[in-house]
Amino acid sequence: EKGGYDYFMLKEIAEQPKAVADTLLGRIDGSGSLTLDEVRIPPQVLREVDKVVVVACGTAFHAGLIAKYAIEHWTRIPCEVELASEFRYRDPILDQQTLVIAISQSGETMDTLMAVRHAREQGSRVLAICNTNGSTIPRESDAVLYTHAGPEVAVASTKAFLTQLVACYLVALYLGQVRGTKWGDEIRAVVRDLSSIAGAVEQVLGTMEPVRELARTLASKNTVLFLGRHVGYPVALEGALKLKELAYMHAEGFAAGELKHGPIALIEEDLPVVVVVPSPRGRSVLHDKIVSNIQEIRARGARTIVIAEEGDEAVVPYADHLIRIPVTPTLLQPMVATVPLQVFACELATARGNEVDQPRNLAKSVTVE
Ligand code: F6R
Repeated sequence: EKGGYDYFMLKEIAEQPKAVADTLLGRIDGSGSLTLDEVRIPPQVLREVDKVVVVACGTAFHAGLIAKYAIEHWTRIPCEVELASEFRYRDPILDQQTLVIAISQSGETMDTLMAVRHAREQGSRVLAICNTNGSTIPRESDAVLYTHAGPEVAVASTKAFLTQLVACYLVALYLGQVRGTKWGDEIRAVVRDLSSIAGAVEQVLGTMEPVRELARTLASKNTVLFLGRHVGYPVALEGALKLKELAYMHAEGFAAGELKHGPIALIEEDLPVVVVVPSPRGRSVLHDKIVSNIQEIRARGARTIVIAEEGDEAVVPYADHLIRIPVTPTLLQPMVATVPLQVFACELATARGNEVDQPRNLAKSVTVE
């Protein structure tokens, strides 16, 4: 049932191109428009939405953090992202013009379910992004966009995360399409880019051997830090979460710009720091800033593990280890940048003799608050 792989996690990492393609299937028509008829919230309601609030836990929360960049950029609707466990306890401001997006692989996470119930009691519409047909969260939501990752068995979420990102992009683009924002051309271009993203994920998977080798050499480390900017920041958080849960290592993700406000004090000789570098095209200011961050930490002894786009030569002098990812539009980069971090965590867990599919103390679906 593991299809020749040692662990479900490895199988599920490998299944990502298909999971991504399946999640897009039938949702984009020949002209590059989105057909999300299954999202049964009438277009006139979506046109009146004045705030989006994403609620989720763990890895799904990281997908939500990335969704915020896409939603705000493509639709200009303000978007908040909140841990479901914190959401209702602070008496959030919700009304009928608020669209709440609840992201959950299992559809059974109690904190997320409670957030859904709370939002609906306040009159907000709730759209679930979920991987499990007929589970509780979609049943209690106004509408659902299913991710088509197939069953995810390993406790650590991988293919569900990538398909959650796809679903978030689809919702963001659909909102933009329905509301006719001035980004129409860009939206059509992104839909085209999204159609080829499964191929990019496949390409990354084909180049992971050096990442595995690197992970094995770090098996005796205690700490790994992760840095990113813009959408690379939630990717850094996700890389750190994977490492905590699988390798039982101290791992933290930071926004690279925050380094000098505290975390840089953690840098010491030979400390592994993974840096997710934004594309040098597009938002090049961010790229330049992160290159100087890499210089700063390296000057203080960090062992830099740099994830950067093919052709990005500026990072080469400062990278102790360089992991290449395909050229991808900025907002879609998490689709390819996350994959090496999954492989990295899985291999480190194996090297440390941990149970990859069943990390200690964790359950696949957390049905208590
Ligand atoms: C991390 C992981 C968890 C889940 C979280 C939410 O690898 O699997 O952090 O993402 O428990 O679960 P769902 O998506 O089922 O609501």
